[in-house]
Amino acid sequence: MRSKYLTTVAFQRNVSSKKTAVVVGTSHGGIGEACANRLAEQGFIVVAVGRDRPEQSQRRLVERLMETSDSTYPTASSSCHNERPLPQHEFYPCNAFSLRDVYDTCQKIRKKHPRIDALVMTQGMATTQGFTPTEEGNDQKMTLHYYSRICMILSLLPALSNKNNSRDYCPAVVVSILSGGVHSAYTNYEKDPSLKQSYSIQNAANAAGYYNDLALDHLALNYQDNNNNSIKFVHAAPGFVRTNWGTELPMLLRAIVRFLQRWAAKSPADCAELLMGSTILALQAGDQLPKLPQRPSPPALGSSSSNNNIDNRYNSTSTAAEEEGVYIVNQYGETASLTKHHTPEARRIIWKHTMNVLRQAGVPVPDEQQKKQHEQYRME
Ligand SMILES: NC(=O)c1ccc[n+]([C@@H]2O[C@H](COP(=O)([O-])OP(=O)(O)OC[C@H]3O[C@@H](n4cnc5c(N)ncnc54)[C@H](OP(=O)(O)O)[C@@H]3O)[C@@H](O)[C@H]2O)c1
Repeated sequence: MRSKYLTTVAFQRNVSSKKTAVVVGTSHGGIGEACANRLAEQGFIVVAVGRDRPEQSQRRLVERLMETSDSTYPTASSSCHNERPLPQHEFYPCNAFSLRDVYDTCQKIRKKHPRIDALVMTQGMATTQGFTPTEEGNDQKMTLHYYSRICMILSLLPALSNKNNSRDYCPAVVVSILSGGVHSAYTNYEKDPSLKQSYSIQNAANAAGYYNDLALDHLALNYQDNNNNSIKFVHAAPGFVRTNWGTELPMLLRAIVRFLQRWAAKSPADCAELLMGSTILALQAGDQLPKLPQRPSPPALGSSSSNNNIDNRYNSTSTAAEEEGVYIVNQYGETASLTKHHTPEARRIIWKHTMNVLRQAGVPVPDEQQKKQHEQYRME
């Protein structure tokens, strides 16, 4: 699949303005590695984040990314060489089961990269296990698919907001690759938001997808960059992709997945092209993102839940910046839907729950964090 965005001009522009993308979950053969590769091809500096596993040789990953940047446009590369070095990709080890480790890793990244243009998160696992607590007491799967992603965004937010007003200005884009548009809502979020009592494979999948929608929507509504433009938050679904997904599954299930992958799954590179092409690369080229999803209609006035369910962003007094919520993108890079339970009340409850989880893990959350960041910026 050849991309219309793969041009020498775009490559050179990205190299000279040192566009930087953080990609999480970059093991060999996965969607994360394919996205990292695609962004390296486009001239981005790639900051790869993942577990440092000896068998995966992260040094090889960085070498592969360097080869990609170098070989994409030999002519562009050599002319860049004369003026500026080619993008220097890096790897940061991080165990995303630990929210504290995610926060600490982000601090290190920010120190070296005060401006980040894109964040892509793919960390995940497919298991049949029940509620399995991390050292911080949260479920492992929920931590990879949801809590660690919000922790990462919040911890990198100052760098994502730190945009200069140059000619090639483009708002930062955050893409969480999980299950946009293909999950249902987890409706017991008020009583048991962390799934300690209601854990099942299905509830964990629904809760992670539903919480991604809600929290990314909250972020889109509340955070702008220093040019007063909304940062773009995208929840995407990859479709069925030929990766190592399911390594932790029991042997028989894993064999079925591998068999089906041969016939019905797309390659990680095609997945990366569709998801990066419709979001980060489209925006950079001045194209539109896929349309915003339709909001579930508010219940009839007078119904008992009407006050809770009306999304006030769409009343006549809301500002343009406020109207831009989360983008939901399907496996083809097109607009997908929110669940009918996507309400302001659910958004508020899940955000509050998430901030409690982060706080308990020792991660500074918005107010505290913003204060600290201001202090830090003053010191720099
Ligand atoms: N492939 C599909 O068909 C498919 C379908 C629907 C949704 N998805 C979702 O899309 C995302 C990417 O899928 P994929 O196919 O690329 O999966 P994958 O090949 O299993 O990759 C998952 C990534 O997460 C990393 N990871 C796991 N535990 C981690 C931890 N504790 N700390 C840091 N990183 C950790 C893995 O690193 P290690 O190598 O260290 O384990 C790996 O790089 C996942 O969230 C998956 O659930 C995939």
